[in-house]
Amino acid sequence: MQATATPFVTPVPAVPGPLALLATGMDATLSHSARTVAEHLAASLTDTDALLASLPPGALAGSPDRYTRHLVYADPYERFSVMLLIWRPGQHSPVHGHRAWCAYRVLRGTLAERHYRWNPENRTATQVGAATREAGDTFSVPAGLQHIHALGNDSHDIAVSLHIYGVDRDNIATGVNLLVDTIVS
Ligand SMILES: [Fe+2]
Repeated sequence: MQATATPFVTPVPAVPGPLALLATGMDATLSHSARTVAEHLAASLTDTDALLASLPPGALAGSPDRYTRHLVYADPYERFSVMLLIWRPGQHSPVHGHRAWCAYRVLRGTLAERHYRWNPENRTATQVGAATREAGDTFSVPAGLQHIHALGNDSHDIAVSLHIYGVDRDNIATGVNLLVDTIVS
């Protein structure tokens, strides 16, 4: 699915000499941090059936309009929020980077993930890969345009995934996805 996007990033200025080493190492450091959250998610969520049963009646059926999101936990210190996403067949997210880190795990069904490379010259993203995510698979996505992706359900059955976002509940709607334009090849 192609996203409708608005400009959001200015060219990155040159890093002052004394901060160059610090700045250039931040991507790897933040990526490592997001992976650590995903490892924790993989190890700590043991009773997914009970979690899914906590949803409102009928929620697991999803919506015919678009994939649905349910806030199931909000950190009281506003550091992260946990969402369950219900994907009917054919429903996809827009292509996006993240304003905040994310870790996700497929709880039911199968999701398709597409990966994109950001081109700052023309300010668009081009697909460079794709992968199938099965129930139990857990991944992390650091914040920023170096990690652009889209998730969706290309199968014939409903899929459910759990997402942890490094954003407080009040900013879930606008503080997660960083929508980008894509080049359709
Ligand atoms: Fe995402």
